[in-house]
Amino acid sequence: MSKNPWAQNPWFESVAVAQRRAKKRLPSSVYGALVAGSERGQSTADNEAAFMELGFAPHVAGHQPERSMATTVMGQPISLPVIMSPTGVQAVHPDGEVAVARAAASRGTVIGLSNFASRSVEEVVAANPQTFFQMYWTGERDVMIQRMERAHAAGALGLIATLDWSFSMGRDWGSPEIPEKVDFKTAVKFAPQVIRKPRWLASFARDLPDLTSPNLAAPGQAKGPTFFGAYYEWMTTPPPTWDDVQWMTEQWQQMSGRPFMLKGVCRVDDARRAVDLGVDAISVSNHGGNNLDGTPAPIRTLPAVADAVGDQIEVLLDGGIRRGSDVVKAVAMGARAVMIGRAYLWGLAANGEAGVGNVLDILRSGIDSSLLGMGLSSIDQLNRDLLVIPDGFERHLGAAVTSAVPDDVAATATA
Ligand SMILES: Cc1cc2nc3c(=O)[nH]c(=O)nc-3n(C[C@H](O)[C@H](O)[C@H](O)COP(=O)(O)O)c2cc1C
Repeated sequence: MSKNPWAQNPWFESVAVAQRRAKKRLPSSVYGALVAGSERGQSTADNEAAFMELGFAPHVAGHQPERSMATTVMGQPISLPVIMSPTGVQAVHPDGEVAVARAAASRGTVIGLSNFASRSVEEVVAANPQTFFQMYWTGERDVMIQRMERAHAAGALGLIATLDWSFSMGRDWGSPEIPEKVDFKTAVKFAPQVIRKPRWLASFARDLPDLTSPNLAAPGQAKGPTFFGAYYEWMTTPPPTWDDVQWMTEQWQQMSGRPFMLKGVCRVDDARRAVDLGVDAISVSNHGGNNLDGTPAPIRTLPAVADAVGDQIEVLLDGGIRRGSDVVKAVAMGARAVMIGRAYLWGLAANGEAGVGNVLDILRSGIDSSLLGMGLSSIDQLNRDLLVIPDGFERHLGAAVTSAVPDDVAATATA
């Protein structure tokens, strides 16, 4: 038998296995960029650990011969309650977001495309017409409108606005070094890490990653800014007020007639405010723990938020999803569907498009097994009574605030 670890069956049986393969395959700085997290990693750890605190009470008989898990998110039919959360996947795989888009399309679901993505919105929509485009609050308003118009013209079917990114730099496990661009000097500097990852290197043989953000290119410009250029623009843009969020929501909805999601909500008062502003959906999220460390896992904050907004808007969750049973727990706690980040990035790193499809298949079969074990025939039957929820599990952030935003906060926010 060959000793080459990559000669093994490319199919993997769990997301954890995909992550181990990604670690072996990627240069340490690329792997570290996907691990991400911030400060002591409390939020990243809680995102996964919180799912372990929730349990099921399965039936021994009376199971249903067929189970259904199809639903819709922002008007898009999806074959399982999972969509791809936007991530900047620079340098993981030469096909990048196009591979993710193809895999999502082949499994009947949506891709959320980051504005920091390595592939253009036009290429991604061509690979998967069910694309939502994601934007940060960065650049002047006219530039934001240009970017929205481009995404709309390309065929993006929804906009995701991500505001919860404060970019805390220090990590107790060390931050990866990200090069500005890939040139000879960088190649020499990173050679010791890269040389030990021949398969990753070989995959880029014809096309080294150029580490730019094509979706941030000005009209008529062939190339977008580098990651650091994009980061500089974001750093120098004053953070958005609630009025700005309303402006963005209305711009998109009026220009496109298509739905708008606010990603990163964890407080009940913010969720109510989002409803008042007219958003169509929110994702309860702490940015995969990459934002303000100490923010609880979204699965803890979801129930209060879902109860507060009822069916006025769609409520999704992202953060810590690694298996189908996590998806089922999130839906039972009040999410319409979930968005996944690292899970598909590990799949992409482990085996490209097939690896992302592999992750979606793992989640689908895990959702199916959980429904089977609980004697259910559909995800529509899921509710909290079907879970074992320990006392004190949930966090009701901002639930005591009766008006959407307290006056003093509103005053500061719009000052
Ligand atoms: C490497 C990495 C890059 C990310 N880039 C973005 C981004 O560009 N835009 C965005 O809205 N969220 C971004 N996120 C956050 C994800 O969309 C999502 O909220 C998070 O990954 C969910 O947690 P999970 O990784 O545990 O699934 C990123 C996350 C990671 C890990």
